[in-house]
Amino acid sequence: MYRLERTLGPDEYQVTFLKAKSQYMADHPIPWDTHFRAGKCTKPELQGMAKDFYYWKLQVPIKDYAVLYGCPDIEIRRKWLPKAIEEDGEDIIGREHVPHPEYWLQFCEGVGLSREYVINAEPLPGVKFAVDHWTHTAAKSWLLGVAMSETGDSAKGIGRNLETIRKHYSWIPESALEFWRLHSEVDVEHSQLSMDILTKYCTTKELQEDCINAMITYLKIHRVMRDAVYLEYVVLGRNLPEGSQAR
Ligand SMILES: [Fe+2]
Ligand SMILES: [Fe+2]
Repeated sequence: MYRLERTLGPDEYQVTFLKAKSQYMADHPIPWDTHFRAGKCTKPELQGMAKDFYYWKLQVPIKDYAVLYGCPDIEIRRKWLPKAIEEDGEDIIGREHVPHPEYWLQFCEGVGLSREYVINAEPLPGVKFAVDHWTHTAAKSWLLGVAMSETGDSAKGIGRNLETIRKHYSWIPESALEFWRLHSEVDVEHSQLSMDILTKYCTTKELQEDCINAMITYLKIHRVMRDAVYLEYVVLGRNLPEGSQAR
């Protein structure tokens, strides 16, 4: 458990929160990420990841509505609502972007999967339990839900993955990469929003610690998801069933 010695001021808290995040990530490299960034993923491995992470992408709006439902502060709800709408598709308010899970499905098609297969597929148990823990935590505490959202340099990580795909997996068509392009931009704003809320609301040592621990739990959720994918598709070398391929 992450512990603080005293209550921190807002700026100091922000710095400490982000330092705890980068420290945890540096101390716990994830085998899937190392494999992916080194350009070593095969097509079946990328297909497995794409299929399994669809469940996670589907739950992002649910987590964001859980934050809205629990938050008693109208100012924060008004700031968070556009993000929730964005995730579920700004086309409902006359803007350009469709639901973000739809962009992920386009990526799944780009790696050669059938859209119907991905929509109907069961996630691996490790992915399911990790993601469900995330949405359930946000449903129990809106503030922890914010701490388990994009923070710090989340957008940079997505941008880095986009560069990796373009460099090492250039067989994936550029038209299938909108999910990555979009998030390397919008997550800059989303991360700032989370940090603004956390610095405003975490005014006691206990809340400050709870939110740092929630952020670390979110990093662990990422780790569990990626470990499940790495075990299934890289270590065990399992392929998706025949009907999974786009025709
Ligand atoms: Fe999104
Ligand atoms: Fe986002």
